[in-house]
Amino acid sequence: MSKGNYLDRYDTATRTKHWTMAVLFILAGLSGLAFFHPAFFFLTNLFGGGSWTRILHPFLGVGAFAVFALIYVKLKDHNRFEPVDREWIAKSSEMLKGNKAAMPPVGRYNAGQKFVFWSMAGGLLVLLVTGITFWQPYFRGFFPIEVIRFAVVLHALSAVVVILSLIMHVYATIWVKGTLRAMTRGNVSEGWAKQNHPLWHKEVTGKGQ
Ligand code: HEM
Repeated sequence: MSKGNYLDRYDTATRTKHWTMAVLFILAGLSGLAFFHPAFFFLTNLFGGGSWTRILHPFLGVGAFAVFALIYVKLKDHNRFEPVDREWIAKSSEMLKGNKAAMPPVGRYNAGQKFVFWSMAGGLLVLLVTGITFWQPYFRGFFPIEVIRFAVVLHALSAVVVILSLIMHVYATIWVKGTLRAMTRGNVSEGWAKQNHPLWHKEVTGKGQ
């Protein structure tokens, strides 16, 4: 549906989930970084000290995962890789140079956005599964130390993947002008849609290119 020269992109429920997840994810990330290296330990001050940070971190992580799961169910089909994505990936260096005209027309999401979506989904799943194995006092007792050692390394690696994906996600939001309003007001201008997602523009407006 469109309003004036704006096209609806996200309903209120999806935007509410997105920002709830963003807050939970960032708090989980900050509390996790506090234990990643002593240089970040000062971050425990945000959560009421070391013990509280240790208690809260897994709950924040599970919360972020649970809200992401709701968004995942809604958006996974739009993020399936298609043949056009191969061409987009091959030309991605042109995109980085700012030469959008060289890019093939894409639908609702481009291959870069889909890549971020799947690395967040995979990373959050690995964080959840590995984190459960050393969550004291609830589950730690069920797993042998060898499993926990491996899980701790995987947990840290997937945190790096998810944090880098988030940096790319926020950078792309700022870099492609007019994107942020998709998640604040729920709509985007027709010009934005035509320029960045021409096949989606065609699909929602019925206008030919
Ligand atoms: C904190 C700063 C954040 C900003 C400014 C931001 C901004 C946005 C914007 C503008 C969109 C719409 C993009 C479009 O439709 O083309 C979006 C979509 C999305 N965001 Fe964020 N976001 C943030 C945090 C997060 C976090 C923490 C996560 C997950 C851990 C996340 C996951 C997603 C997902 C899954 C979508 C849907 C895109 C897709 O399905 O490919 N975002 N975000």
